Amino acid sequence: GEPAPYSPTGRHTGNPPQSRAQDGPYLTTAQGARLYDTDHSLKAGPRGPVLLQDHHLREKIMHFDHERIPERVVHARGAGAHGVFQAYGTAEGVTKAAFLRKGAETPVFVRFSTVLGSRGSADTVRDTRGFATKFYTEEGVFDLVGNNIPVFFIQDAIKFPDVIHAGKPHPDREIPQAQSAHDTFWDFVSLHTEAQHHTMWNMSDRGIPRSYRTMEGFGVHTFRLVNAEGATTLVKFHWKPKLGVHSQLWEEAQITGGVDPDFHRRDLADAIEAGAYPQWELGIQTFPDTPEQTFEGIDLLDSTKIVPEELAPVQPIGLLTLNRNPSNFFAETEQVAFHVGHLVPGIDVTDDPLLAGRLFSYLDTQITRLAGPNFNQIPINRPHAPVNDMLRDGFHQQAVHSGVAPYKPNSLDGGCPFFAGADTGAYIETPVELPAARKVRQAPASYDDHFSQPRLFWLSMSPVEREHIITAYTFELGKCYDNAVKERQLKALANIDAELCARVAEGLGLPAPEPTLPPADVAPSPALSQVGQEWPAD
Ligand code: HEM
Repeated sequence: GEPAPYSPTGRHTGNPPQSRAQDGPYLTTAQGARLYDTDHSLKAGPRGPVLLQDHHLREKIMHFDHERIPERVVHARGAGAHGVFQAYGTAEGVTKAAFLRKGAETPVFVRFSTVLGSRGSADTVRDTRGFATKFYTEEGVFDLVGNNIPVFFIQDAIKFPDVIHAGKPHPDREIPQAQSAHDTFWDFVSLHTEAQHHTMWNMSDRGIPRSYRTMEGFGVHTFRLVNAEGATTLVKFHWKPKLGVHSQLWEEAQITGGVDPDFHRRDLADAIEAGAYPQWELGIQTFPDTPEQTFEGIDLLDSTKIVPEELAPVQPIGLLTLNRNPSNFFAETEQVAFHVGHLVPGIDVTDDPLLAGRLFSYLDTQITRLAGPNFNQIPINRPHAPVNDMLRDGFHQQAVHSGVAPYKPNSLDGGCPFFAGADTGAYIETPVELPAARKVRQAPASYDDHFSQPRLFWLSMSPVEREHIITAYTFELGKCYDNAVKERQLKALANIDAELCARVAEGLGLPAPEPTLPPADVAPSPALSQVGQEWPAD
């Protein structure tokens, strides 16, 4: 499971890189020169001025001055763990990905996170949680960069900076939303009502998980799988925790947030250290890859929509076990760089416009966060497959590349054919027909349905879960200073469910507005309680 060193030839030896930290019988400078005193600066006499020539002093302080790197622009607060993924082989019919073949075992690194808080913020706040998994497969790295909520706030990545600006601390006082004004968040979601579905998941118990070990994970977008014959299937990825899905009560979350802001981080590390390895099953919902890319009328390219599990059951395809804590938080959890574009043969993206923006964003932000383009050479990010790219030089280049001709074909270095074979490569074009089109900025008509799925979610809740949702809306909206914002959000709730709207309005001391839309055709159904639930007990 150890990352292999990045070798000059691009091949990997399989040996862990030599550790340079605290190795050896005596202390040295960064250049390996032996030191006899690291506690006193070099001075002109015991009470004299410090001398500029003291290299050890300057090196020690210079390095300390640069110990911090920028935190992630979102998902800054997180905790990670190593583990293994064992494939059941049940996905072999729909994908040729080698790590999903029966019996395949693949090392993984997982990072869980909150979205909005800064690096030092509390774990148990009401927020979405990130669930990002790096699979070090024999065919290269595959990253499944998901959340614990199956839908997203927006349908198009061009709005991502806007929704995050609305949710992050207010620019004037830098006070987090969770403790003071909530006006911008509720202003955004009441004006951009496609956010209502994700927001209701946040207001439900899913927004305050008991632990990372008891969270589901979702790939959110629809992905396209390709099998050995070239046939394609659309899928949504799900992680189901073996411990079941559990949340805190709001009062518990408040107490743990104050008494132990590291509550989730500690829980994960303690469980792994005690040998209580957390496990999740990976599952897929599969849909025929039709030109419409819809299933039972649900637009598969709209990340604000789920496909209920009674319409498309989640089929288990493998087991994830987290069994090793990071030995160094900075080297591993902080420097890990996930990317939705890290794909292996047999897994491809779809034309979801939210996903398209992500394909740009992660690589782009990591160039700043990890100081240059060579962060794939940081041990935690190194593929466990051979690397033979034509990327050269740049800040923090670790490889000593050989040869003179980093281009293909060439007649000087020889040896390596350009293509390993069209059927074995990643990033080959899946032959998807595109309709004749003209350039537009408009979204498809189906993206205008913002209320039927929040209603579906609401109707699938038990009475006690509904009470929690009502209380959460009332509490959070009660923190808004601006009554117009509260009233606009109540109008959105009126379009979701009359009782929900009335109860929240009552709590806020405001009149309940009438719905502006006719009720959508969504009937309550006991089966809907399966939306996003754990597997039936085995
Ligand atoms: C980070 C999930 C949408 C930009 C993350 C992380 C997760 C995640 C789990 C943390 C990764 C880690 O632990 O290092 C999601 C999901 C999305 C979504 C599930 C929607 C379905 C977007 C969009 C954008 C975006 C639309 C931009 C257009 C970023 C950026 C980071 C990030 C810039 C920081 C990455 C880094 O610094 O390494 N996201 N995200 N995300 N996300 Fe997203």
